[in-house]
Amino acid sequence: MDQDFVWFRDHHAENMERMFAAVGDLYAEQWGDFFHFAIYEDPAEDRDAAFAHTHRRYADALRVAEAAKVLELACGRGGFTDFLAANTQGDVLGIDISRAQLSHAMRHRRPNLRFRHHDIMRVDELGETFDAVAFMDADCYLPDKGAALGSIARVMASGARFLLIAWCKRDGLSGLQEELVLHPFMRFWGVPGLETPTAYRRHFQQAGLRLVEEQDLNDKVRPNWDFGYQQAIEGVRTVSMARAAQLLWKGLPLGAEGIRLIKEQFHAALYIKAAFDAGLLRYTYFLAEKP
Ligand SMILES: C[S@@+](CC[C@H](N)C(=O)[O-])C[C@H]1O[C@@H](n2cnc3c(N)ncnc32)[C@H](O)[C@@H]1O
Repeated sequence: MDQDFVWFRDHHAENMERMFAAVGDLYAEQWGDFFHFAIYEDPAEDRDAAFAHTHRRYADALRVAEAAKVLELACGRGGFTDFLAANTQGDVLGIDISRAQLSHAMRHRRPNLRFRHHDIMRVDELGETFDAVAFMDADCYLPDKGAALGSIARVMASGARFLLIAWCKRDGLSGLQEELVLHPFMRFWGVPGLETPTAYRRHFQQAGLRLVEEQDLNDKVRPNWDFGYQQAIEGVRTVSMARAAQLLWKGLPLGAEGIRLIKEQFHAALYIKAAFDAGLLRYTYFLAEKP
């Protein structure tokens, strides 16, 4: 395995802290507070409307209204965690490994909403169980997807639901296809490895979870990566070193590495669009239940 990917895998906590301290505010400036995709029923639909019904669909699938305890893994800036808390009487917890991201999540305040700095790989050390668990657009960063699903299953109460929105690589890719298109963006994003849908089915089974629904959403999320690409093109027209330095989170000394990470996001946007257009990346919805 390439040394970069080994480092991302073996230092995932430090990697994520640094990555999101560098790029979190840039992403928020370009895409808004949600770092996940909206599902478009109609490609001409308004982005806010698409997010609204995407979030409603996810909350309904998780049966959040009836849940006493809800967990969002990799909650990021907390926008969806806040939506969950607004749609249940239950207690809602968001965890994330990036203090930079959590510093924004903390703006959301409700009596039934909490945030904690915690690693998904050690989620079973929280000492709590949950009736609904959401996990969107962050699985790619995990150093061991199978071990993570095992830990997640252990914090699920009997009958609990788990929604995973995963960035998968297509089954059956050649090494050359991965090297040409996936490896560059993985390097720019600090991603140690991508899982296939087939590997996830196996992980669910090994974790003792029953897969309720699986859907490849690539066609329905296409406007998101077109939007991401357009924003990157717009960004490069107005880019400056001074603006890049302003965007770095000041809670962690990043210096030149922070600027490098910001610059690399332009290249990441190009490769991600290519990876989706070529069908190599698959945006995949999994809904699972603990028997
Ligand atoms: C692309 S953002 C997605 C955030 C949020 N789910 C959303 O959709 O807006 C990825 C998030 O995953 C978090 N993350 C990555 N690895 C993690 C881990 N091992 N434990 C907790 N959070 C993690 C990062 O800090 C970052 O906030």
